[in-house]
Amino acid sequence: MKLPNKKLEDIVRSTAYQQIFCRFLRMNPISKEFLALSASRKRCSNLSFDARMAETEKKRESNIVLALDFPFEKPENRNNLFSKAEKLLEEVHPYICAVKFNHHLVLPLGTFDGVHRLVKKAHDEGLMTIMDCKVNDIGSTNQVIAEYYYAAGFDALIANPFVGWEEGLKPIFDVAARLHRGVILLIYMSHKAAGEGYGQMVIDPKTGEKLPQYVSFAKKALKYGADGAIVGATFPEKIREIHEILDEKVPIFSPGIGAQGGTAQAALMAGAAYLIVGREITLAQNPAETAKRTRDTVKSVKGEP
Ligand code: XMP
Repeated sequence: MKLPNKKLEDIVRSTAYQQIFCRFLRMNPISKEFLALSASRKRCSNLSFDARMAETEKKRESNIVLALDFPFEKPENRNNLFSKAEKLLEEVHPYICAVKFNHHLVLPLGTFDGVHRLVKKAHDEGLMTIMDCKVNDIGSTNQVIAEYYYAAGFDALIANPFVGWEEGLKPIFDVAARLHRGVILLIYMSHKAAGEGYGQMVIDPKTGEKLPQYVSFAKKALKYGADGAIVGATFPEKIREIHEILDEKVPIFSPGIGAQGGTAQAALMAGAAYLIVGREITLAQNPAETAKRTRDTVKSVKGEP
């Protein structure tokens, strides 16, 4: 939407304004009526990914990001895979705020074929979409990866801060800023060996300070203006420590609930803003019931009716 004057538009688009807006949405128990009045999805498209996620969470009363993952299927069965994904979205969408895609669907269905249609379907249901591609290459390649995924409709993608800023992450953030999309950074992964990389001690070359890699990445997420930070639900103590650095300025997205052994309660209590849940829902006998139960658990931990 065009705002009445250029100065106002600049203010609304500024990082500082959007951080305050997100903080307000996350911390304030404002009513759904306010949100319904406040903006249509189109009007919000100039808002940052972070702000749109916060708004979608409030509107839908759910902070669950569904990881739309399925086990390997023979490529000749990929039409079944598409139908499975489509059916699952239809059943589960009332209980989630976003969908995260991974290679599980991009490889068999293709970015601009099946996945693009599923992204559109998720948007039509009012959901946000995230591509979990863990971008991890040189800047010129990263830029093309980002351009393709954003062209496919994704609202945000996940990138790996190990590549550094210059000729690494910067081109991704530049594309994201131009298209008003999000970049979420890995800070501490959810699997057992995460500590081997994200937990090693490093020395800041500028200050000589010795600090864990994930602390350094969390500080960089703040500095770069990342839209989210991934921290595994399997390490609630890491969520707590990283949340102290990020405060409410960069929301924590936490995968590893259920199948990997993490719990929604522990992740939320430690400071996670969004829960990423895959197999617990996608492989359940009754995915909708499981998603609803997880959503209700979140509400009860937050003390919401
Ligand atoms: P499950 O089935 O374990 O699926 O609930 C989790 C989903 O999230 C991905 N995953 C991660 N993605 N950083 C990420 O960016 C992580 O630390 C991480 N841990 C799990 C996983 O690939 C699956 O899609």
